[in-house]
Amino acid sequence: MKIYKEKDYDKMSFRAAAVIGAQIYMKPDCVLGLATGSTPIGAYRKLVEWYEQGGLDFSAVTTINLDEYKGLSRDNEQSYYYFMNEHLFSKVNIDRSRTFLPDGTETDSDAACRKYNEIIHAVGGADLQLLGIGHNGHIGFNEPGDCFEKETHCVNLSERTIQANTRFFESEKDVPRQAYTMGVQTIMSARRILLAASGEDKAEAVRAAFFGPVTPQVPASILQFHPDVVLVADEAALSKCPEC
Ligand code: PGA
Repeated sequence: MKIYKEKDYDKMSFRAAAVIGAQIYMKPDCVLGLATGSTPIGAYRKLVEWYEQGGLDFSAVTTINLDEYKGLSRDNEQSYYYFMNEHLFSKVNIDRSRTFLPDGTETDSDAACRKYNEIIHAVGGADLQLLGIGHNGHIGFNEPGDCFEKETHCVNLSERTIQANTRFFESEKDVPRQAYTMGVQTIMSARRILLAASGEDKAEAVRAAFFGPVTPQVPASILQFHPDVVLVADEAALSKCPEC
C-alpha cells in the first residue's frame, strides 16, 4: 500500500486528482470507478480545472459509479447521478453513454443489480476505483456486517449512514432507506484502488481499516488484501495511524 499524507483537504484533493489524472493520461480509454460524497468534490474540481486547461481528455473514458439510492431518479438533486453530473460529467468532454450508475428507478432490486453487474463485466471492471470511507468503515454502501463476497446488491442503510447523509436532505425522513451498491467483491476486482479520506472524524475509520484486523465489521479493512491500494489522506484523517 502506498500512503500519501497531505497537509489538508485541498492538498489531499490535489493528490487524489493527480492519481486519477495520471490514470487517464497513461490509458486514455480507461475505466474509472467513481465515488460520490463530500470527500471527492475537491478532486473532481481539480480534474475539471486540468481539463479546462487542456491537460486532460475524457473523451475515451468510461465510468462506473459505486452506488445509487434506490427510488431516486437521475433528475432528483440528491441522486448520485445528479451529483456526478454536477461535479464532473457536465464539465468535461466525457461521452455520457459511457457513464454508468445503478438505475435508482428500477424497483426490482434483483433486476437493477443484475443489469449493473452486466455493465461492469461488459466494460471489463475498473482500472482505478476511487473510494471514500464512512465513519463506520463502509465503502460504497457496504455496511458493517455485510458479506465480503458480493457483487452489486441492494442494501438497507445503517442508522449511522442515514444520519451522516441527512445533511444533504431536508430532513432525516427524506433519506432513502435502501441503495444499490457495488459489492466488496466488485470493488476488490478493480486493478487499482484509490481511497481518499479527510478530517479528524475519519481518523478512527482509517486506522481500523488499514491498521486493524480484517473483518466484515470494518468493510474497508478488506483493502489490506488488495495488491495495489493508494491511500491519500490529510494529516487529520491519519492522526490515529501510529505508523503514519
Ligand atoms: P463522505 O462520505 O465523503 O461524504 O464523507 C464517504 C462515505 O460515506 O463513503
